Amino acid sequence: MITILILGANGFIGSHLSETILAKKDWEIYAMDLSQDKISACLSHPRFHFTEGDMTKQKEWIREHIQKCDVVLPLVAVATPALYVQDPLRVFELDFEANLDIVRQCAEMKKRIVFPSTSEVYGMCPDKEFDEDSSHLVTGPISKERWIYSTSKQLMDRVIYAYGNHKGLDFSLFRPFNWYGPRLDNVFNPKPGGSRVLTQFIGNILRGEDINLVNGGAQQRCMTYIDDGIDALMRIIENKNDAARNKIFNIGNPTENISIRQLAEMLVSTIGEHYPKYADKAKAVNLVDIDAKAYYGAGYQDVSLRVPSIRHIREQLQWEPTTDIRDGLKKTLDFYLGSILKH
Ligand code: UGA
Repeated sequence: MITILILGANGFIGSHLSETILAKKDWEIYAMDLSQDKISACLSHPRFHFTEGDMTKQKEWIREHIQKCDVVLPLVAVATPALYVQDPLRVFELDFEANLDIVRQCAEMKKRIVFPSTSEVYGMCPDKEFDEDSSHLVTGPISKERWIYSTSKQLMDRVIYAYGNHKGLDFSLFRPFNWYGPRLDNVFNPKPGGSRVLTQFIGNILRGEDINLVNGGAQQRCMTYIDDGIDALMRIIENKNDAARNKIFNIGNPTENISIRQLAEMLVSTIGEHYPKYADKAKAVNLVDIDAKAYYGAGYQDVSLRVPSIRHIREQLQWEPTTDIRDGLKKTLDFYLGSILKH
């Protein structure tokens, strides 16, 4: 039995992780988040102990619960690219500063930490596949403020690694590559760039808006279905034979590498074929090219190819992604369009 502390349990990853742990393991979860709308399925479970609160303010509660738990997952972060440009200081303060406190307490109290790094740390790395041990981390000039997320996360990776190497911290870093699925972002947020790309596009279709393809949509992403991501994360937390100790793992689906334009086209055709209530809306949508500066502002810069090497996690934790994009999209649409139908 493991006792886990999840900060940000009501987020996309936190909510799926909590549900999976309760369904498949006998682990005990202590959890905190600002709200609880995504974890309604967990709240009454006897092994789920939730406190509503702000992790940047509830310092005593956090200290007490780090002490009480075996493994700590600090999942609270800003992770929406438009915000990296609009509010870079908030990204630094939350993603780096607030979490540094947690990392230090884990080192001090000798607790295991499983920390979310990100595919964004590789930035504009020219490698065909990004490798945890050998790829260079390539970001743009300071005026391209988008990179504050990447570099805040990179510095945290380096700090955690140093605590591991020099102070005995037991850690694992995981790097999600474009995870998607139910509960990703709010599709009713009408702000351009207000959510990540898939939920943004679903919202565009529902509102009868154009889909904006930033710089034409030729940039590619490896779309990784949440269940695959959570399966990998569970293996990391479980840490059989200490195989995840002080390691960094990419978690992504290298075979589901598609351009953003293809993603938009696939979304439109999937809705047309499988969701008759929305087929007309999907048919009516226009795919419109838009300049990145006009969409995100001058501080934006994009990544054109982002493919993970998954050699490490495959070899060390026997993980393999199994959900292709068509299935993943359908499951995601069942959630978003199904929940609208119920309203
Ligand atoms: C995101 C976030 O930075 C992180 O949350 C996360 O670490 C990373 O994904 C990941 O999951 O690996 P990114 O893929 O650039 O990075 O973010 P999205 O908002 O999902 O955008 C994907 C692509 O679609 C970008 O090239 C963006 O310019 C494009 N896009 C987005 C459009 O063409 N139109 C839109 O309306 C929105």
